[in-house]
Amino acid sequence: MDRQHTRRDKLRRMLKKVGAEALLVTKATNVTYLTGFTGEDSYLLLRGDGEVMLSDSRYTTQLGQQCPGLDLHIRTGGVTMVESLAKAVKSVGLGRLGVEADSMTISLRDKIAEKLPKVEIVPSCGMVEQLRQVKDREEIARLRRAVRQAERAFGVLKATLLPEKTEKQLADELEHQMRLFGSRNRGFQSVVAAGDHAALPHAVPSDRVIGQCDFILIDWGADEGLYRSDLTRVVVTGRISAKFERIYKVVLDAQSRAIAAIRPGAVCRDVDRAARRVIAKAGFGRYFGHGLGHGIGLDVHEAPRLAEKVQTVLKPGMVVTVEPGIYLPGWGGVRIEDDVLVTRDGHEVLTGVPKNLEEVII
Ligand code: GLY
Ligand code: MN
Ligand code: MN
Repeated sequence: MDRQHTRRDKLRRMLKKVGAEALLVTKATNVTYLTGFTGEDSYLLLRGDGEVMLSDSRYTTQLGQQCPGLDLHIRTGGVTMVESLAKAVKSVGLGRLGVEADSMTISLRDKIAEKLPKVEIVPSCGMVEQLRQVKDREEIARLRRAVRQAERAFGVLKATLLPEKTEKQLADELEHQMRLFGSRNRGFQSVVAAGDHAALPHAVPSDRVIGQCDFILIDWGADEGLYRSDLTRVVVTGRISAKFERIYKVVLDAQSRAIAAIRPGAVCRDVDRAARRVIAKAGFGRYFGHGLGHGIGLDVHEAPRLAEKVQTVLKPGMVVTVEPGIYLPGWGGVRIEDDVLVTRDGHEVLTGVPKNLEEVII
């Protein structure tokens, strides 16, 4: 049985527990996870006794290649997705249809309700996402590949950094290098933020020339084809002030405390707290405004979150980012981010770009 088949069977068992007869999977990465299909505009209708993929003729060949054996409902010109869904639902006489409430638009929900007035639409949250939290061996291998591509690209960037380059040029070069190392795409919009721009956690690369600044925050990651990586380093290109050194060391200490807390059975909010405590104690608590990290996989941000209120218990196979930061408006910011796999007896840091202060000086 293939991996996608096993995943669908697990989801079927979850459906039974929550009393739904079927789940309409509309979120693209969830469809990919459950079927292997990587195209767009295709939904999976998963029932207790089977499933059907609803798609259109642009994808007939691709579906045959990526999901052999899966039942297909290919609509023809003029038939809408919702009409095709209505036909599939009526043909098996479903009375209650689960939908992915976290991502479905209200307009799609309304269209389905209009076409299927006798069917009860049951909102569900995070079912496939819950399964996706724990990665299997192949997923971990792909995540490692995405990490490798990002790290190699960063190595080239560091070796060829020139002071006259702009943030945007560096971001473009980094993304180009990742592609040269095999990445299909960038994992997300890269951040290259020099000096006080680094005070914006998600700064958009600008035309600022990096040579004018003493440090640059770089947040980048690859998409190897399906899975993503997500790293952040601050590189020093100028003078190290006492303030920079202090903040850098606090963030690095916060990150290493949090990483040390990662093991099966640890609760996400406690891992977040391990870092937050260090930053608060140093007097920068209000300058660390985001969660400590997030799961990473088919999406750059997925469950579980490492954040103050999250009670999820870590399990072997989960992969999370650990990315504490301190951001001071008008001065700049420091964030250090690594990707960490929860193992059976602790954790493994998948990312290995050097991060001690003396190692980030260019
Ligand atoms: N690169 C986005 C993030 O660190 O979450
Ligand atoms: Mn990042
Ligand atoms: Mn991240």
